[in-house]
Amino acid sequence: MYLSTSILSVEEKNPVRIFYNLEEAKTDYFHIDVMDGQFVEKDTNKQMLEYCGIIKQISNLPLDIHFMVNEVKKYIDEYAKFEPDIVTFHYESCKSDEEVMELIKCIKENNIKPGLSIKPNTEVEKIYKFLPYIHLVLIMTVEPGKGGQALIPETLTKIKQMKEHINKENLDTYIEADGGINLETVKDVTNAGADIIVVGSAITKSEKPKEIIQKLKRF
Ligand code: DX5
Ligand code: ZN
Repeated sequence: MYLSTSILSVEEKNPVRIFYNLEEAKTDYFHIDVMDGQFVEKDTNKQMLEYCGIIKQISNLPLDIHFMVNEVKKYIDEYAKFEPDIVTFHYESCKSDEEVMELIKCIKENNIKPGLSIKPNTEVEKIYKFLPYIHLVLIMTVEPGKGGQALIPETLTKIKQMKEHINKENLDTYIEADGGINLETVKDVTNAGADIIVVGSAITKSEKPKEIIQKLKRF
């Protein structure tokens, strides 16, 4: 399993030290939660642009960017300069299947791996048709919009269902799970079929982030 640490809840005062510690603790990715204040209430764009700039100066770890925005194209153009490994956008921010395919193509044209995310209330069947064209599917295990929420148990069934479909269709699309994942819930999430887990507050709000990362990576 790969670990993608969400830096959404990292305090402004000393981010460099925290990013350095996360890299030393061997997180596999930095998960960048970009929110536009429209698709979700919070607007984290200014902070995430600043954090991406800092990370690019001090680390070679890959960026796993999660767009919770309405105007996806605008944000792809804004964040492409950080050369992210993955850029994921929400199915629910698109008006048509054609728009989803357009955005997948736009991300690939920037030499970035595309991801597609669904909210807890969107059923998995809605995005089956896109799986052959994307690197990963991000199944939200909380409502997008903020860190520190509890995992919604019903979303584990969605991960299981998606995993069965991917295996049946012999696809190589990764499943990433995001929201409320910690030492209590990680086993259920990986057993359900998640290949990459996003963890925020369980790491960034802990006294011993390195220890938490090492324990999480054992699953
Ligand atoms: C929520 C974000 C998640 C969140 C994860 O909208 O997409 O990445 O920051 O944080 P925790 O692990 O605290 O739920
Ligand atoms: Zn996220």
